[in-house]
Amino acid sequence: MSTEGVNEGRRRFLIGATSAVGAVGVVGAAVPFVKSWSPSAKAKNAGAPVVADISKLEVGQQMTVEWRGKPVWILRRSEEAMASLDKVEQMGVLRDPDSSEAAQPEYIDGDARARDGHDNILVMIGLCTHLGCSPLYRPDVAPEDLGKDWVGGYFCPCHGSKFDLSGRVYKSVPAPLNMEIPPYYYISDTLIKIGEDGEAA
Ligand code: FES
Repeated sequence: MSTEGVNEGRRRFLIGATSAVGAVGVVGAAVPFVKSWSPSAKAKNAGAPVVADISKLEVGQQMTVEWRGKPVWILRRSEEAMASLDKVEQMGVLRDPDSSEAAQPEYIDGDARARDGHDNILVMIGLCTHLGCSPLYRPDVAPEDLGKDWVGGYFCPCHGSKFDLSGRVYKSVPAPLNMEIPPYYYISDTLIKIGEDGEAA
């Protein structure tokens, strides 16, 4: 009798212990699942295209959106800014005026470096091609610190690289290349999808 009682008690204990292990096992299984799911979702979001609404972007204004962890600038250039692109080219100060070495999609060409039909809108990765600092938008003409020949552009405060208002690099500065243009297309006149070429590419 007494042996049976002990065995009964032990059986109950074992059942309890097994249930507890079972419960721990479920929790244990759930955690790795969540952990392995999060990074892939994050990675997917990080590489996904982003849509920018430029309906409120005024002439001369620049906005920034993030794509793949990088700042993408969208600048609505004025008529003067567009005229400065030719001016700076005539001055002979650009290293690669035709962007022959630049990282840009093949549908981007000319001095505007923009999609056809939207020449005045510049869409560009906002990182210096030297060591990746963020250049300053300096549309002001002939400011004291940049000199009387400055027709508007971007100035990198880290080591002094200069770019025009299309992101084309000047000669004799540390940055070796024009700034990068990402793939993008217009969903409508006011919505730009950055990260995809679109059908008309
Ligand atoms: S990072 Fe821009 S000049 Fe060096």
